[in-house]
Amino acid sequence: MKIAIDGPAGAGKSTIARLVAQHLGLRYLDTGAMYRALTVEALQRGVDISDEEALMRVATSMDLEIAFRGEQGNRIFLNGEDVTKLIRQPEVTAQVSTVSSHKRIRELIVALQEQIGRQGSIVMDGRDIGTVVMPDADWKIFLQATVEERAKRRRIELEKQGVAVNIAELQEQIRRRDHQDSTRENSPLKKSDDAIEIDTTSMGVSEVVCRLLNLIKGEDEDVQGSGRDY
Ligand code: CDP
Repeated sequence: MKIAIDGPAGAGKSTIARLVAQHLGLRYLDTGAMYRALTVEALQRGVDISDEEALMRVATSMDLEIAFRGEQGNRIFLNGEDVTKLIRQPEVTAQVSTVSSHKRIRELIVALQEQIGRQGSIVMDGRDIGTVVMPDADWKIFLQATVEERAKRRRIELEKQGVAVNIAELQEQIRRRDHQDSTRENSPLKKSDDAIEIDTTSMGVSEVVCRLLNLIKGEDEDVQGSGRDY
């Protein structure tokens, strides 16, 4: 079974995708983490991220490993070092959409994602999974939420990591990234015509997970009653 979950920044894709995968016993791939890891490596090497050629040299020489850790989701290793937390830092978030906009970078990373997709059942989340990476997915979900709600969620996430944020700045950043991701020439953020759109603005995580599991399994799943605090 292949499940594609797309949507804009902060719509809850990675949390939802990880939990859905866990409930269904499937692998989970956070495709954004791959662009983020490349961004970290490029910044560490002092490479100009608007230079596609230079970025390609970084992408083809870095050692990126994605470990599937069930409940914990993906752990990302760059040249042997665990960068799972580092890739979520605001400096990386601010630059990643420029890195991911380059055609050849996308071709390279999408090819890796396709290869992982061919290895068996999986839940992948990203921007172009239903349209480009797994156009043959059994389920295509597009998660939406208002910018205000998405900024609020991102603030909570960052504060948990000890990063103080200004909500107005966060909203502005999210708008900018949405714009950059959806107007880029190469595989932009776009709802696939056959995707099911879910507006999660007033939904909790468990509610969204339940909705998806009900859709996919065609039966009731009492996720809320499982005693887990998501
Ligand atoms: O979690 P959040 O929505 O903030 O971002 P992410 O999923 O980690 O993705 C970070 C960035 O990577 C996005 O803003 C896109 O520029 C890029 N991306 C992409 O182009 N295609 C994907 N399939 C996934 C992410």
